[in-house]
Amino acid sequence: MNEFLAGIEQLAIVRGLKASFFAYPIVNALHIMSIGALLTSVWLMDLRILGAFRSLPQAAFIALLRRTAFAAFAGALVTGSLLFSVRASEYAAMPIFLAKMTLILVAGGNFLVFMRRAKGGDEPAGGTAILAVLSLVLWTSVLFAGRFIGFLN
Ligand code: HEM
Repeated sequence: MNEFLAGIEQLAIVRGLKASFFAYPIVNALHIMSIGALLTSVWLMDLRILGAFRSLPQAAFIALLRRTAFAAFAGALVTGSLLFSVRASEYAAMPIFLAKMTLILVAGGNFLVFMRRAKGGDEPAGGTAILAVLSLVLWTSVLFAGRFIGFLN
C-alpha cells in the first residue's frame, strides 16, 4: 500500500503539479469552486424538501439541483484526487482525511437512497425529510473535515 501511494506521488502529472507555480493553486481553487456549487445545490435541494421555497415547483427545482450537485461532486472528486496525489502517503495516514472520505461515502449513500425514493424527479415520497436533514449534516461535516485537514497536519 505504501509503495502504491509513493508511486502516485511520482506520476509525471503529479510531479508537474508540484513543480508548477500555478497548477496547484488553480486545482485548489477549482476544488473550492466545486465544493461551493455542491454545498449550495445540496442546501437548496434539502431546504426545498423540508418545506422552503414552496412557490417553486418541487420536481423541476430538485431535478435542476440534482444535476448541479452531480456535476459539482464530479469536479470535487477530480480536483480532490489531484490534491491528494501530491502528498498521498501523508493524507492516507491522517485520521481527519480518512474521516472526510468516510463522511463522503455515507453522504453519497444517503443521496442514492434519497434518489431512489424521489423516483427520478417526481415528488419525493414521505419520510424523505429525515434523509434531507441527514444530507445537510453530512455534507456540511465533509466541508468542515476538508478545511481541518490543512490545520491538523
Ligand atoms: C471526492 C473526493 C475528495 C477528495 C479526494 C478530496 C481531497 C482533498 C485534499 C487532498 C485537500 C487538501 C487538504 C489540505 O492539505 O489542506 C482537500 C481540501 C479541501 N476539501 Fe476536499 N476532497 C474531496 C471532496 C471534497 C468535498 C465533497 C468537499 C466538501 C463538501 C471537500 C471540502 C474540502 C475543503 C473545504 C478543503 C480545504 C480547501 C482549502 O481551504 O484550501 N472536499 N480536499
